[in-house]
Amino acid sequence: MATLAAMNMRIAPSILSADFARLGDEVRAVELAGADWIHVDVMDGRFVPPITIGAAVVRDLRKVTALPLDVHLMVHEPDHLLEDFAAAGADWITVHVEAIKHLDRTLQVIRSLGAKAGIALNPATPVADVEWAIEKADLVLVMSVNPGYGGQQFIDYTLRKVEALRSLIDQRGLTTLLEIDGGVNATTAAAVAAAGIDVAVAGSAVFGASDYAAAMAGIRSAAGHK
Ligand code: DX5
Ligand code: ZN
Repeated sequence: MATLAAMNMRIAPSILSADFARLGDEVRAVELAGADWIHVDVMDGRFVPPITIGAAVVRDLRKVTALPLDVHLMVHEPDHLLEDFAAAGADWITVHVEAIKHLDRTLQVIRSLGAKAGIALNPATPVADVEWAIEKADLVLVMSVNPGYGGQQFIDYTLRKVEALRSLIDQRGLTTLLEIDGGVNATTAAAVAAAGIDVAVAGSAVFGASDYAAAMAGIRSAAGHK
């Protein structure tokens, strides 16, 4: 099963590492270069130290790309923001299990707003924290760095969490996608794909390269794509 998932591993460039002064052009450029999704990192200055962007930016990006907008909320208690992000055109809305009191309810709200619901886990958060709520999630995002910053080094033990989640999803016959976020590049992509990831976020490895298409091709080829 892991091999099957790896054959289809999608790449979601994270705009965190893009040039924010030219954001629309950057998103168009990675779309042309073959990106599958656009990953949007929302940080609130509380769940993680930095502040990035809000729903207004998602609304405007919605006009420049047809790709799925994958919104990763690194936000403490994000319930009051869900409606705004869904209305702005987010296709996927992912919340952190560590930031939420009533995860099951939050996932239901996201789905009721017409978006796909995701759960993110920090590197040190056990898989057991999503063991039951995963049945109401369209996606589980495993953080492979501590959230807050691009360009950090991949934390290897998170791959064992991915493998455990892959087994859980396959054993239960769920269609939940598995996403990994942080430190993905042409060096780490092979192990990421082998662990059974469906969607790999890549920030600095794509936007830090001079040729976005070549950067994504390098990740795909390491992941075993033909
Ligand atoms: C980190 C963000 C990531 C980040 C990944 O908090 O959630 O999406 O942009 O950046 P890289 O790929 O550079 O590790
Ligand atoms: Zn992210």
